[in-house]
Amino acid sequence: MLQTDFLVIGSGVAGLSYALKVAQYYPEKKVMVITKTRADETNTKYAQGGIAGVTDLENDSFEKHIEDTLIAGDGLCNPETVEIVVKEGPERIQEMIEWGTRFDKDAEGDYKLGKEGGHSEFRILHHKDITGKEIERALLEAVSKQKNIELINHCFVIDILTQHHLGFLITKSTPDIECYGAYALNLHTNKIEKILAKIILLATGGNGQAYRTTTNPKIATGDGVAMVYRAKGRIENMEFIQFHPTALFEPGVSPSFLITEAVRGDGGILRNKNGEAFMEKYDARKDLAPRDIVARAIDNEMKKGGTEHVYLDCRHMNKEKFIEHFPNIYQKCMSIGIDISDGLIPVAPAAHYSCGGIKTDEWAHTSIKNLYACGECASTGLHGANRLASNSLLEALVFSHRCYLDSVQRVSEIEFNQNIPDWNAKGTTEPKEMILITQSLKELQLLMSDYVGIVRTNVRLQRAMKRLDLLHEEIEALYETTTLSPQLCEVRNLITVGYLIVKEAQFRHESRGLHFNTDFPGKSELVQNIIL
Ligand code: FAD
Ligand code: SIN
Repeated sequence: MLQTDFLVIGSGVAGLSYALKVAQYYPEKKVMVITKTRADETNTKYAQGGIAGVTDLENDSFEKHIEDTLIAGDGLCNPETVEIVVKEGPERIQEMIEWGTRFDKDAEGDYKLGKEGGHSEFRILHHKDITGKEIERALLEAVSKQKNIELINHCFVIDILTQHHLGFLITKSTPDIECYGAYALNLHTNKIEKILAKIILLATGGNGQAYRTTTNPKIATGDGVAMVYRAKGRIENMEFIQFHPTALFEPGVSPSFLITEAVRGDGGILRNKNGEAFMEKYDARKDLAPRDIVARAIDNEMKKGGTEHVYLDCRHMNKEKFIEHFPNIYQKCMSIGIDISDGLIPVAPAAHYSCGGIKTDEWAHTSIKNLYACGECASTGLHGANRLASNSLLEALVFSHRCYLDSVQRVSEIEFNQNIPDWNAKGTTEPKEMILITQSLKELQLLMSDYVGIVRTNVRLQRAMKRLDLLHEEIEALYETTTLSPQLCEVRNLITVGYLIVKEAQFRHESRGLHFNTDFPGKSELVQNIIL
């Protein structure tokens, strides 16, 4: 049994920035950070374009960033959350710089600012086209110097602990559900540990792995959302899955390599198979329209032309400048025989970001006591029906800070719950064949991509739900009888996430932002968030 004042589940930008702050505030208290594979294997590490923030007050303003976020969110953002994130963001970015993150500067020493879809101004700080890698490096380096942070890698959290584990019947209407820690499979010892904690932060990231084509690494399996759903906590807005318009089209390669939207910000143009620059047919903002619009336009061009991709044209761009801003993309394209100065880049949309998730308030509280959530797994109200590009890293920093402010005040009021029993593995045996798990994953990814993608219909959603019911039944049977492995738990979690996406998509009788249902092509008068 392990015991810690602060348990942080996840080592991306949300988890690490929170852990650092709490550990610095309470040097005598222990902060435990758990991560299921290597510490740096996170969505954070793959972020390319950068972090949005108002730093150039001559040309930009909070009002403009707020307005851009609200327009992209298509009527479902919480305006108070938007204001909090935009106004507090620059201070949080400054802290990242103080922790050692290097954002690119020009010859005068001013930050070079990029632009992406939906932004009315240049406001995105970046480190070439590997901003996330730089952020993750700086945070892990800072964490390694903080003596009271224990970082445990290859440790898979299975479930959060609540009154359910004390034998009580918990339902969605049970008042005051509390969290006491987590059960986690330590892959160094192959034992399931009970970890008791006073404050628990879920910073478990996204769920792109629910789809066959995604920019998200293998770790993005929606574990935090599924755990909270099982614990009867509140989940919202799961239908708003953001498809990034321009993932490199490379059949058989998973995850898909991203071609950052910043390339379009610097002048890249989308073309269909006939070489036509098609975006002007869809939106006055052309290639820099918000992501939902660009992804749908590409989907439509692909369907009309019977192709599996469109093209991104960078031939007219200054090659030297391109290499300076996007060295990683340049190298990747060269490695597959495309020189961006005379060849077109084949691109197609890929599942990229989950706008919804665990419902949280302005201090990152979930509906479960002592349990907080930050980063991509949380639904704060910032993104509404469609996230504005590069607002995600910003959101994670702002809410991990707010979570820190709130939780350090509360920790002394909380006692460890010593009555939680150890994990009981009775009645389970080693799996006879892995194919039952791997096949379930393939089926799930296929059905989500085919029926719950960029364009949805009532019949497709119904079909998806029927198949999900069967997958759920089969995986629960395996879970009850088999020795647990991360693979089994991840598929189980992804099936839950798939169910939540479809369920909320079925409730939404309109098309809004990232949720487009041809049976309800218009928007409804009543703008609402659906909470499960
Ligand atoms: P992550 O960084 O994903 O971290 C999740 C952590 O949780 C990992 O450590 C993982 O191991 C751990 N974890 C999960 N489940 C468990 C479990 N069961 N047990 C133990 N540990 C667990 N956003 C921007 O703002 N700007 C960008 O330029 C940008 N570019 C992107 C490019 C790509 C290719 C991708 C995939 C995303 C991009 N995003 C971008 C989105 C952004 O990177 C993510 O939303 C953000 O980094 C999420 O951070 P996080 O801390 O919430 O989660
Ligand atoms: C990108 O660089 O295009 C991704 C930015 C984001 O997802 O916010």
